Amino acid sequence: MSASGVGASNAIAAKVEHPADYRRVYVWELPVRVYHWINAVALVLLCVTGYLIGAPIRLFYASEAYQQYWFGWVRFIHFAAAFVYVFNFLARLYWGFVGNRYSSWTAFFPLKRAQQQEIVDVIKADVLETKLHGPISTGHNALAGLIYFGTFLVFVFQTITGFALYSSMSNSCLPRMFTWVVPLMGGEFGVRFWHHLFLWFFVTFVIIHVYLAFYHDYIEGRGTVSSIIGGWKFDRVEKGDK
Ligand code: HEM
Ligand code: HEM
Repeated sequence: MSASGVGASNAIAAKVEHPADYRRVYVWELPVRVYHWINAVALVLLCVTGYLIGAPIRLFYASEAYQQYWFGWVRFIHFAAAFVYVFNFLARLYWGFVGNRYSSWTAFFPLKRAQQQEIVDVIKADVLETKLHGPISTGHNALAGLIYFGTFLVFVFQTITGFALYSSMSNSCLPRMFTWVVPLMGGEFGVRFWHHLFLWFFVTFVIIHVYLAFYHDYIEGRGTVSSIIGGWKFDRVEKGDK
């Protein structure tokens, strides 16, 4: 950079309040980011195709059945996305044991007192729109971590009920491992009911999750949204790393 260029950047830095108060922290490693976006795409496909399986569009029946195969495609996409989603989730579970401290499975449980205080603080900030008072975690905040853990449990439930439904349509070994679930849930109707009901859990989760990602990007001002793309967040130096 030329001398005048250095002078200009120093002038800009002088206008920024405490430019050295933040440092870059590599929070989300590549496997976590790849997991996140594969999971997001697979879940959207599962929700849309699942909804169509439960409520097929009658308009498409106008032509002869042999002239169309749209419902077959809907089901095929549902099943293909289901396999991607399940193996992607298993990869994330593995990464919870070998990845960095932010992606570790321990990050999902608010066992420390400071994390419990953070939960109260974040609920107040999200619901009542008050200011964040205490320090905020560099990785998932304690409330987000707990909610992701709940979501992971629903992932497992949806996988079990999905493969239970699939077991009556497939001879592959994976679905066949779940045949026992059908009588346990009072027959196929019961399994289908719960599998359908949790569609609405995912729809609600995604709407609130995306809203909160942007909201926290705004109130924390340290790159929450871009962190799930590039991996980096910014942290106040005085605070230290939690
Ligand atoms: C179907 C859509 C989506 C689903 C199911 C989803 C799900 C998740 C899950 C499960 C995590 C936890 C990741 C982990 O620890 O492994 C997460 C984190 C995150 N997601 Fe999403 N996500 C979706 C879409 C989005 C979108 C569109 C954005 C951005 C605009 C976004 C931004 C983030 C951010 C910033 C984090 C890290 C949050 C933090 O710092 O606590 N997500 N998401
Ligand atoms: C996790 C996200 C998922 C969502 C939101 C979802 C949603 C749905 C919905 C709403 C239906 C229609 C139920 C009805 O009203 O009849 C359905 C059907 C089905 N789903 Fe899923 N599902 C998911 C994951 C899975 C998984 C992991 C599998 C495993 C193979 C699976 C297999 C099936 C099967 C076999 C059917 C019945 C297809 C048919 O009767 O033609 N789903 N899903």
